[in-house]
Amino acid sequence: MQITQEIKSFATVDSDVLIVGVSKNQENVEKWAEFVQFFGEPMEEWVKSGDIQTDTKSITKIPVFTKEAKVKRLLFIGLGNRKSLSKETLRAGFGLAGKALHKMKASKISLWADSFTTDEILPEEVSNLAAEGIVMGSYTVENYKTTSNEQDITIEQISFITDAEPEKVFAGYHKGEVYAAAVNEARTLINRPGNLLTSTKLADYAVELAKEYNLEVEILDKAQLEELGMGAILAVNKGSKEEPRMITLKYQATEQWEDVIGLVGKGVTFDTGGYSLKTKTGIVGMKGDMGGAAAVLGAMRIVGEMRPNKNVIGVIGSTDNMISGEAFKPDDVITTFSGKTVEILNTDAEGRLVLADAVAYAKQQGANTLIDLATLTGGVITALGYDKTGALTNDEAFYRSFVEAANKTDEFVWQLPLTENDKKRIRKSDVADLNNSPGGDGHMIFGGGFIGEFVGDTPWIHLDIAGTSDAMSAYDFGPKGGTGVMVRTLATFIDQLANSTEE
Ligand code: BES
Ligand code: ZN
Ligand code: ZN
Repeated sequence: MQITQEIKSFATVDSDVLIVGVSKNQENVEKWAEFVQFFGEPMEEWVKSGDIQTDTKSITKIPVFTKEAKVKRLLFIGLGNRKSLSKETLRAGFGLAGKALHKMKASKISLWADSFTTDEILPEEVSNLAAEGIVMGSYTVENYKTTSNEQDITIEQISFITDAEPEKVFAGYHKGEVYAAAVNEARTLINRPGNLLTSTKLADYAVELAKEYNLEVEILDKAQLEELGMGAILAVNKGSKEEPRMITLKYQATEQWEDVIGLVGKGVTFDTGGYSLKTKTGIVGMKGDMGGAAAVLGAMRIVGEMRPNKNVIGVIGSTDNMISGEAFKPDDVITTFSGKTVEILNTDAEGRLVLADAVAYAKQQGANTLIDLATLTGGVITALGYDKTGALTNDEAFYRSFVEAANKTDEFVWQLPLTENDKKRIRKSDVADLNNSPGGDGHMIFGGGFIGEFVGDTPWIHLDIAGTSDAMSAYDFGPKGGTGVMVRTLATFIDQLANSTEE
């Protein structure tokens, strides 16, 4: 439960911790003198001496000694030179504060919003970045240790010290909290092992989500996929005892089901590689091969909560990729939902197959713009590393407006080219329309380009999140593991689209 309230003076702050922004020239901050007077003269000295650190991304915690104070601790976030402070750096500072709050087990917090403002960053943006940072930063990975008694903190109460309009500040916080909570939900799905998160379970999750937010939901089971001729997702599923699922969520904002953006996610709950088997080291971590699905579910959660004026459909193709006497094999030829045939050259290039059917289905269900998200290739990691999402598009203007959203959330996206020559190689096969693995050179492009074959002229962006969906080590916004990358960007983009069609 969330209580948001406004506090007028330091003496009435009643919480576990008060969060304060501190920069080199702190004397310019309004009420700083009042703060120093209330919490004690040494404050001023400690900022100068560095005992309270002012560098960006530094956190200083100190207990409160003032007798009249009700707050127990102060937590300072360094802002460096306030003039050059960016929103990204501030969000990261709050992320680190979130980690500290978690360690302190603080559940009642106060934020001196006005101590973080700059000429560019308004109080309602401070509260928004604070919510995103703190809620993401305090995230912990669900574990199954029999000895674990670590409790997740939930922030039960937040109060603000601000001279700005409190409603705006509260609204900024609320939005940030909704976004970050959806990111954390996505992370939890990514972190959940394959034996516990099967395609059926993922579909159950989507049904619950739909109930919670009054979304339309449809789950296609194996028999229905067979009936519809979804030969691509079925081929990937052939070696498994677990049934596949095609999951569809619809959020209808307007009377007519038109101008629908489709979010399509790869939901491979575990990828062994199939007969093109992964190595014993390469296979570890493949529980996270449903990061695209998690991103779609996270974005749909935000959409459900924020109710933007934009029709959205989320489609997730889900299965695992296993080996058995039944499994699909290299040299097999399959027929996809679209009717196109594919020669299988590599059973480990399974994501593009699942997405081929999912993308075609999203179009059939009315999507007239498409974004697909997938932990699709190791190639994107080779090309861009672990901190950049790779993108392809068939519509530069559509992509540019997406990048605008990604810039707001600070989720780095970088476009790679998809040339006619690349397409030629995807279409090269003696026995089928396409092949699923044209080569190891620049293969991020082949992976996404293959999906593009099922998109046609519909404006489309492909996002390969193989590098960014799962963090190899702890980072500003939490522990290693699922990141929930693109959840906030997708929601921000939808928000952007909703506001641009309102005129
Ligand atoms: N799920 C993997 C991609 C992946 C690799 C995700 C590393 C996360 C971390 C995907 O299905 C895959 O195996 N791709 C192959 C494609 C190749 C066989 C053409 C790859 O990238 O090696
Ligand atoms: Zn694979
Ligand atoms: Zn995969």
